[in-house]
Amino acid sequence: MTAPVDDLRAAIQRSRAILALTGAGISAESGIPTFRGPGGLWRSYSPEQLATPDAFARDPLLVWTWYDWRRGIIRGAEPNPGHRALAELEKLKGAGFTLVTQNVDGLHERAGSRRVVKLHGDIWKVRCTGCGASSVNDEVPLPELPPRCSCGALLRPGVVWFGESLPEDEWERAVEASRGAEVFLVAGTSAAVYPAAGLAALARARGAKIAVVNPEDTPLDGLADWVLRGLAGEVLPRLAG
Ligand code: OAD
Repeated sequence: MTAPVDDLRAAIQRSRAILALTGAGISAESGIPTFRGPGGLWRSYSPEQLATPDAFARDPLLVWTWYDWRRGIIRGAEPNPGHRALAELEKLKGAGFTLVTQNVDGLHERAGSRRVVKLHGDIWKVRCTGCGASSVNDEVPLPELPPRCSCGALLRPGVVWFGESLPEDEWERAVEASRGAEVFLVAGTSAAVYPAAGLAALARARGAKIAVVNPEDTPLDGLADWVLRGLAGEVLPRLAG
């Protein structure tokens, strides 16, 4: 009998369409805190106070102070072998590989992934709440909190908050790739946040095989053909090799 990891690697090698869905867990080994679970950000901070449009309207300074702090952690972090393995898979499979992430940290791109579908935005982008202009801003720390646009209005982080829609183009790309996937690999996400977590069921309904890489149980384990209990930085390199 082959080990599940070898079996999954063989399925990936055979497959013409692979989708990898990642979440905060893939960046945990880079030292970036996750949201849920022990040590997760939502243990000490409330999403309602920090990651909703209402929170920003109420207290933009508090929200920006939190994002500025997280930008500082991310700036000091490096991609880990899990990110690099997914970049390697993209190289091996070309257009047959789609990476969809809920992460806003940019570590997939820094590891060499070229085509990343970013469902929850990008912490290195800002958007003006007045004129709507969007731009890259990688200053850490920000010189002024909360930051303002040249038009005078407040800038907001270029991320998706609870209660907001996902960027339409990115969502469509994710849905299309999910529908066509032969192997749907879920790594480092609690699969607790929709609609992203629903992509696996969509793929499964179209015949994809599901693989979960996570040290903990996830709600997708019951759907999965492979459940690999382990750290992304240890398991994913064995799949790309
Ligand atoms: P979570 O914090 O909910 O889940 C992180 C997952 O990673 C958990 O299932 C952990 O068991 C797992 N994990 C931890 N270390 C790992 C490792 N080294 N290798 C593999 N897995 C590991 O993060 P997300 O699922 O990304 O949204 O959360 C989804 C969304 O909820 C985020 O994008 C964010 C959050 O609130 C918004 O802020 C809108």
